[in-house]
Amino acid sequence: MKILAIQGSPRDEGNTQTVLDVVLTSAKAAGADIEVIHVFNLRDLTGCMECFSCQRTSDGPGCPLDDDMQELFVQALRADVVVWATPVFCWTVAWPLKMVMDRFYCLFKFESADQYRCLLEGKKMAAVITAGGGEKDGADLVDETLRRMAHFSRSRSYASFIAAHVQSPESILADQNLLKRAEAFGRELVG
Ligand SMILES: Cc1cc2nc3c(=O)[nH]c(=O)nc-3n(C[C@H](O)[C@H](O)[C@H](O)COP(=O)(O)O)c2cc1C
Repeated sequence: MKILAIQGSPRDEGNTQTVLDVVLTSAKAAGADIEVIHVFNLRDLTGCMECFSCQRTSDGPGCPLDDDMQELFVQALRADVVVWATPVFCWTVAWPLKMVMDRFYCLFKFESADQYRCLLEGKKMAAVITAGGGEKDGADLVDETLRRMAHFSRSRSYASFIAAHVQSPESILADQNLLKRAEAFGRELVG
């Protein structure tokens, strides 16, 4: 089983990466192949330009923007599980992740507003969300956004892991209860 984690925090050693590492280490121990893309480190990345050229290609992304997203499309298409990882930024996903989500538009092929195919159909999707506040201070909205992304992608399933009230990587690694829950979540991704 191939898991692709798309890590959307600007920090590559921050809270989200720390929680994600625990989840993925556990998934790897349960037998998964892991790929992690830290979106902020993709140097050549732009947002969806809404040109709709992608809609002229039915069997592939068809996005004309020649940047680092092209490789990410390939990785997502060959994954069995796509994990969206993000901190809560102002009640929504962090901006690097939002760029990727918008660019995934090209993986949907629309015939009309409600008739479409999704090239990601049948995959599992999951979310790892970290928040400085409580679950109702935005993590709930991020969870709902990613749940809808999974539903619209016709994913086989969606599961989320929310680490609320987190302060630092050090305090995360000292929280035995959080670590146990994150490890269990990693095993569930493989099951
Ligand atoms: C610009 C910004 C906006 C934030 N907005 C929220 C928010 O709306 N709700 C919340 O619970 N935490 C919010 N936070 C806190 C982060 O979600 C939290 O610190 C997160 O764990 C950071 O993860 P990272 O270290 O991976 O970037 C915000 C932090 C920043 C920097």
